[in-house]
Amino acid sequence: MTHRLVLFSLLAAGGAQAQSSVGAPVDPQRAERCAVRLAVAFTGKSPDAALLGTADPQTQVSALLANTAFIERFSRFINAQFNSEPGATSQEDAAYHLTKYVLTNAKPWTELFVGPYKVDVAGGQVQVQDDPNGLGYFRSPPWLKRYAGNEENGIKLSTAYRILNNTTGVKLIPSVNAAGVDVSANGREAAGCRGCHYDGWFALDRIASVLTKKVMNGNTVTFEAPTAGPQELLDGQTISNDKELVEALVASSNFEFHTCRLAFKFLYGRNELSCEGPIFDRCVDAFRAEKTIQSALLAVAGDASFCR
Ligand code: HEC
Repeated sequence: MTHRLVLFSLLAAGGAQAQSSVGAPVDPQRAERCAVRLAVAFTGKSPDAALLGTADPQTQVSALLANTAFIERFSRFINAQFNSEPGATSQEDAAYHLTKYVLTNAKPWTELFVGPYKVDVAGGQVQVQDDPNGLGYFRSPPWLKRYAGNEENGIKLSTAYRILNNTTGVKLIPSVNAAGVDVSANGREAAGCRGCHYDGWFALDRIASVLTKKVMNGNTVTFEAPTAGPQELLDGQTISNDKELVEALVASSNFEFHTCRLAFKFLYGRNELSCEGPIFDRCVDAFRAEKTIQSALLAVAGDASFCR
């Protein structure tokens, strides 16, 4: 399956040998710089004595990945990447809560999107609960309401976009609607709209057609089952509902690339550079084999280049 995403052309590079830091001559100043760099990147704090006393701090990346300061920092990072602003309530930031759970329990990263969970308030606190009907955080009631949108027929374009963006990183930035523009489903077929709403693998109206619909009941938002039936989406896959949609998205190579882009962005504070193609490839290979976000982060931060 190939998705036409322009973002990922950097993968052309590759084939370089893995560079191991093991056996490198010990230079105390280099080791100290490396310890500081790792501790700040993972935990936002300066290194502790144990890390500072290590001849090769990159051997300690696994320990940093289990550090609670890292788990907190990474969960906040993911939440900021997956939402354009903080939630009005903590339960709206379902991605934050479930990321923390997935990291703490060393679950595969796909669990964040397809795992049997629900993030909601229980006993006065926001909790991750087991829910056999869960779909990562995508079926959690506060999240569903947050992204229900205001489309006139309850078509959840905003939800469709969040699901696509959170799983693949695709960014669609609509220009501000001018007054008098027809925003109905017909209006969205116009030349200036259909590029995002009907064309391309991310076509928002077509994706949204397999999601539940928003219904207002007085002041209460409820959702009713989709009526469109199975649709051909994502370059020719037959998809009937949100679960099949998200499962197809996390099975795509776009998902793997997005995961490694997140790992780079967290560790370097920027996107990967084209000369970093070989490290990026190793990240994708590690993630494909081991499934955890920790494996992706280890591939990037454990590479000799991270401390050079
Ligand atoms: C660059 C891509 C892009 C283009 C072009 C675009 N849109 Fe959108 N549209 C989006 C995205 C993304 C969303 C979801 C935004 C969100 O709520 O997060 C959206 C949402 C909407 C919504 C639902 C808002 C809601 O609250 O649920 C309407 C209505 C809409 N667009 C109308 C239009 C119309 C009319 C045009 C043409 C004049 C247009 N769009 C062009 C990307 C686009």
